[in-house]
Amino acid sequence: MSQTPDVHVPGAGSDVPNLDFAGTTPYEDYVQADVLTHLQHPLSEDPGEMVFLVTTQVMELWFTVIVHEWETASRALREDRTREAIDALGRSVHELEALNASWKPLGRLTPAQFNSYRAALGEGSGFQSAMYRRLEFLLGEKSASMLVPHRGAPRVHAELEKALHQPSLYDEVLRLLARRGLPVPVAVLERDLSQRYEPSPEVERIWAGIYADPAQCSELLRLGEALTDVGELVWRWRNDHLVATRRAMGSKTGTGGSAGVAWLEKRAAKNVFPELWTARSHV
Ligand code: HEM
Repeated sequence: MSQTPDVHVPGAGSDVPNLDFAGTTPYEDYVQADVLTHLQHPLSEDPGEMVFLVTTQVMELWFTVIVHEWETASRALREDRTREAIDALGRSVHELEALNASWKPLGRLTPAQFNSYRAALGEGSGFQSAMYRRLEFLLGEKSASMLVPHRGAPRVHAELEKALHQPSLYDEVLRLLARRGLPVPVAVLERDLSQRYEPSPEVERIWAGIYADPAQCSELLRLGEALTDVGELVWRWRNDHLVATRRAMGSKTGTGGSAGVAWLEKRAAKNVFPELWTARSHV
């Protein structure tokens, strides 16, 4: 039998973990795992509901991280720190991949499995996710009506209202392009920020020019590619959600009151940062 102690003796040099804490552990103080792992309150008796709830919570956490990265990128762009913006976007690409991988446990729900707890969800729907809405607003998908469901939650409403009127990540990109001397139309630069961004042929021409001249525009090209990665992965999230929904409930109406799959199909068909996709036909 080994005589080596497997617990840390305070004061004695040791290569085993410390077990002796007066209060909660420093891990708990930092991570708040006790709070986090006691936020799961399923509404039905169905054992399958737990993974639905936790997947939704996990996705909310990823939305929060991604919003943080895009706000970091927006600030960096505003201050002409383009490399830092590209770094933040690059981190968000890996986070979007992790977000999308979390569809796995729900991607093959059958209608009977979903029905076993669907009624318990009442009118609850991911459509009411405020963090997802901030994420969409940062992409330029603005809409004042999306604030309405949050009227009863003053802090959430105030955060969303601020985000509605702030420049999106893409607005910051366009302002940077203008500061670099590229001919972004005044109407685009001075657009009403609370409205959905509409693609512009002049902006499409600017991206086509950047892509056609990689030697001259290497930094802007890297920015364009980072945004394209983001756009592709958001599109994938929307489409994975659409397919999971189609598998779980066919063409029934959604718990949030929409037409369900038919409504999601329209949302999923949209391109994120549209000119970055259409410009490719002209390079
Ligand atoms: C497989 C299970 C799921 C089904 C059947 C489903 C179904 C739906 C439906 C039908 C809608 C349209 C609005 C409505 O009428 O409710 C919707 C919207 C939405 N769901 Fe899900 N959903 C599922 C899982 C999730 C998960 C895990 C999340 C993660 C947070 C999520 C987030 C969202 C969001 C953000 C929207 C709004 C999309 C937009 O505004 O474009 N859903 N969902």
